[in-house]
Amino acid sequence: MTRKDAGRSSAWQAARAAEPLLAEAGIEESRFEAEYLARTAGGLTRAQYFAGAPLDDAGAERFAGFLERRLQREPAAYLVGEREFRGRMFQVGPGVLVPRPETEMLVDIGLGAAEAGARIVLEVGTGSGAAAVSLAAELPAGSAWRVVATDISAHAILVARANARRHGAIADFVLADLAGPVGEADAVLANLPYIPSGEIDALEPEVSRWEPRTALDGGADGFALIRRLLDDCATRLHPRLLALEVGFGQAHEAAKLVKAAGASPEILPDFNHIDRIVVARWP
Ligand SMILES: C[S@@+](CC[C@H](N)C(=O)[O-])C[C@H]1O[C@@H](n2cnc3c(N)ncnc32)[C@H](O)[C@@H]1O
Repeated sequence: MTRKDAGRSSAWQAARAAEPLLAEAGIEESRFEAEYLARTAGGLTRAQYFAGAPLDDAGAERFAGFLERRLQREPAAYLVGEREFRGRMFQVGPGVLVPRPETEMLVDIGLGAAEAGARIVLEVGTGSGAAAVSLAAELPAGSAWRVVATDISAHAILVARANARRHGAIADFVLADLAGPVGEADAVLANLPYIPSGEIDALEPEVSRWEPRTALDGGADGFALIRRLLDDCATRLHPRLLALEVGFGQAHEAAKLVKAAGASPEILPDFNHIDRIVVARWP
């Protein structure tokens, strides 16, 4: 700590003062969140933070801004402007869903499909592009694979393209309703909106107030878009495989829809043992 820094409050002190405010606003893990926001505002490592590094004026101002927004239950990822996914940082912000760790499973399925011979992998509803960009970045270089991703949101397509540039990943991002003009895919991955319309308002405020409705709303029963995509796959795209992310308690209903579309379903649990992915395989 320099002489100039003496007398300034440390990031740790600022975080400790913020912690009860966050808790009062209903934020779980208020200690961790206060630390994360203070460290990010000050550009500090954990070691610097715990060693009592001060927040300079700009850092203190940034922290105050973060805190004000977080108390309104805006997601922390929107405040800091990024979120980690499969070890890479992705630009996010209002207008795109914050990528969730369970969606990383879709990338593993895409990699497995490519290894088994799929050449064109399509992600439908790419949002920030986290899954498509990760897949493109993780496929062995110099190969003939092609990653294509769609979204109905023009803003999401811009963010996904920026994330692809950030990671030097080559993928085509297409503004489209579901698969839209894409005429060919060997494997399809999708984390489409699956929350029943009537249940969105009861979700935690970070989701219901801040994340885009078009990223959440799956129609009356949550399956409106999943049904349409299954139908498009079965009647027009004819991929070998479609992997669908679904919500808590939805996997068995999704498996029934997969069977009705002429495919064999497989249900895969996530790291919390929640049935999360339904894979459809056509003969
Ligand atoms: C649950 S979010 C998933 C985003 C991203 N794949 C992820 O996992 O972080 C669903 C995404 O599907 C997009 N979407 C909604 N309706 C769509 C449609 N009819 N066609 C294409 N994309 C759609 C939304 O804009 C949103 O980006």
